[in-house]
This record gives sequence, C-alpha cells and structure tokens, in this order.
Amino acid sequence: MLKVQNLTAGYGALTVLNDVSLSLPTGARLGIFGHNGAGKTTLLRCIVGAVRPRQGKVDVEGADTSAATVAENVRHGIAFVPQGHNVFPNLTVEQNLRIAGLLFDPSFVTQVYELFPVLAERRQQRACSMSGGEQQMLALGMALMTKPKWLLLDEPSTGLAPVIVGNVMRRLVEVNNRMGVGLIVVEQNVPATLKVVEQTLILRSGKVVFQGSATELSGNTDLWKWF
Ligand SMILES: Nc1ncnc2c1ncn2[C@@H]1O[C@H](COP(=O)(O)OP(=O)(O)O)[C@@H](O)[C@H]1O
Ligand SMILES: [Mg+2]
Repeated sequence: MLKVQNLTAGYGALTVLNDVSLSLPTGARLGIFGHNGAGKTTLLRCIVGAVRPRQGKVDVEGADTSAATVAENVRHGIAFVPQGHNVFPNLTVEQNLRIAGLLFDPSFVTQVYELFPVLAERRQQRACSMSGGEQQMLALGMALMTKPKWLLLDEPSTGLAPVIVGNVMRRLVEVNNRMGVGLIVVEQNVPATLKVVEQTLILRSGKVVFQGSATELSGNTDLWKWF
C-alpha cells in the first residue's frame, strides 16, 4: 500500500503541492499528468524522501518515507528514476548494473538481463555508446537491481523516438506483471502512458483535479485541458 496523505510541500516561500492525497494498493500502476510546474516532480521527490513536506506524510508499506532519507527508502523498496539518463556514461552496462545493486544481491543481474535482453547483448558496451532508448532501459535495469516494491519514473519517454517509447512502456508493464513492482509514472506523453497504467491522477498548480481509471480519462477529453 502506498498512501499520500494531505501532502503540502514547496521550496522556500513557494508552495508547490497543496493538500495532495492518493492511495494505491501494492503492485498498482498509476500515471500522473499535469502541465509544466504543476508539482509532479515535487510529488515524486516527497515520496522518495528528497523533499520534506510541510504537512502530511507518505505511508509506503508501513513506513513514512517522506520523513526518511532517500537511502533508507531505497532499502525499503522504493526506486526512483529521475528525468534524463541516469547512467554512468563511461562504465559498461554490466558495471552500471552491478554498482546499482551493490547493497543488494549482485546475482540479480541475471534476472535483469532476462527482462531486458538488449542489456544482456550489450553487457560489455559502455553506456555512453548506446542509444537514448537503450540508456533508458539501463536506467530501469539499475533501478530494478535494488529489488523495489515501487518504481517511480519521472518522464521516462523524454527524448525518445515514438517507436521506442512504446517499447519502454511495455517493459514497465512486464516488470509490473512479472515482479509485482508497483509503478508511478509521471509523463507528458499521455496517450502512450494511458495504454499501460490502470489509474490516473491529474495535478494542476499543486492540487489534484482528477483521479480515476485510465479508461475514464481516455474517454473524457474535456479533462485533457489540464495537461
Ligand atoms: N529545487 C527547487 N527550488 C525552487 N523551486 C523549485 C525547485 N524545484 C522545482 N521548483 C519549482 O516548483 C514548481 C513545481 O516544479 P515541479 O515539481 O518540478 O513541477 P513539474 O514536475 O510538474 O513540472 C515550479 O514552479 C518549479 O519552478
Ligand atoms: Mg517535472
């Protein structure tokens, strides 16, 4: 269970999130949408413990992650893939995966290769020599090396060719299905995301203006003005 309770957060005098609440069962798939500056990244940062809320809390599988450190939350099973390609460019694929899993079970690399055959094929290749889509797969693989219960992704499709976006999204569903990992995906590419999430949430100026199923949001284009 992941439960955001009446979260208010910001930076200095700026209030970015205003009384945000949401609740997800373990293994759920949520898409978060909203215009630029709506507070999507800040919400993810509060969940992973990188921004302290002013009010409210986040209960993830029984622990208040908004009051813990990022390192504690990683051990508690929360993996965060921030925007951009979060890989060590000069290290090989395998070195990247092993570093990400240093505090966990390095043999887990075998399972990551099963999920992402493209990484297995390129295990000795330096990350910087791979395409954007492959680097995004590597970032996902690195996040999985920490054996998360929840995987949070901030705009994973940024900079990827449309054909690759679908590929990355399908991998996410596979991770969800095969490993039971819950997904929270912040995205600008709403149509691609609606194909893979079950639940959706729209943020506008730090407030939740819509919460419902992907089917409901797909069918209600009036709501699309919010992003
Ligand atoms: N580290 C920061 N310091 C000050 N203001 C910030 C910081 N990060 C984000 N902001 C501001 O907070 C607001 C929400 O940002 P963000 O959560 O990144 O929105 P989104 O991800 O929806 O685009 C924006 O106005 C942004 O400028
Ligand atoms: Mg953002």
